Amino acid sequence: MRVVILGSAAGGGLPQWNCRCPICTLARSEPDRVRPRTQSSIAVSADGSDWLLINASPDIRQQLFDNPQMHPREGLRHSPIRAVLLTNGDVDHVAGLLTLREGQPYTLYATRGILDSVNANRVFDVMADGVVARQPIGMDQRFEPLPGLSVTLFPVPGKVPLWLEDETMEIGAETETTVGALIEAGGRRLAYIPGCARVTDGLRERIAGVDALLFDGTVLHDDDMIRAGVGTKTGWRMGHVPMRGDGGSIDALAGVEIGRRIFVHINNTNPVLQPGSPERAQLEAAGWELARDGMEIIL
Ligand code: MLT
Ligand code: MN
Ligand code: ZN
Repeated sequence: MRVVILGSAAGGGLPQWNCRCPICTLARSEPDRVRPRTQSSIAVSADGSDWLLINASPDIRQQLFDNPQMHPREGLRHSPIRAVLLTNGDVDHVAGLLTLREGQPYTLYATRGILDSVNANRVFDVMADGVVARQPIGMDQRFEPLPGLSVTLFPVPGKVPLWLEDETMEIGAETETTVGALIEAGGRRLAYIPGCARVTDGLRERIAGVDALLFDGTVLHDDDMIRAGVGTKTGWRMGHVPMRGDGGSIDALAGVEIGRRIFVHINNTNPVLQPGSPERAQLEAAGWELARDGMEIIL
């Protein structure tokens, strides 16, 4: 199985268009030291030829250009992306669908709940009926989006997308709106969980023994955004478990057998993005890697 990290940042990317926090500022002034990052997306392939895109980021046009594996290579119109899967309905995971139009056939997979919010928004009709098939997938229902590649979706603690929040919304509920994906090919297993509000026993059991885990690295501490002075929201409020502190993912996953553990969906305020920082060193000492754009993982 081949995995390409197309975008390693959380919503907003690095630098974020309107942000002057120290890390965004460094990404503009010293991009060789603090590498810019595009928004959350990966691609997975069993044969290195046909790819499953997981999450369609607003930066997808740039991501597909930057990674030659994703270039068209047959006839006049072609894409190696044969299928697309969504793990939630957040803007950073669905806005790129608007770029995947131009009459290119593929199948869009998501849970009924996520697909309903896409279907309810007519702007997504640019993925024309009869060209892009929209396929709802039940929880724990193993399916094969590409020959030799199987996927199973499972609920993780989360919340509805930011743009669908209302007074009835619950944080930390395990519903169809936030899912993880277990991907299998050639006997190897990958767990992809870019958004997760809490690490539960069920989650630990689910991912035990995987060859690689790509996990929500939005915030280091629950109050990252407050410490950075850019906002008032906590990680919990945004539906993202912190790496450190009470219930932090590094400790909560420490006892679980996992081949490679890699943080994805990293917010631009996260101090681990500073090379040479103690926060980065501690993360690496705990056995974690930080995903980078263009990083390829072969399992
Ligand atoms: C998130 O991961 O919390 C979302 O991407 C927030 C957003 O939609 O901006
Ligand atoms: Mn996000
Ligand atoms: Zn910033």
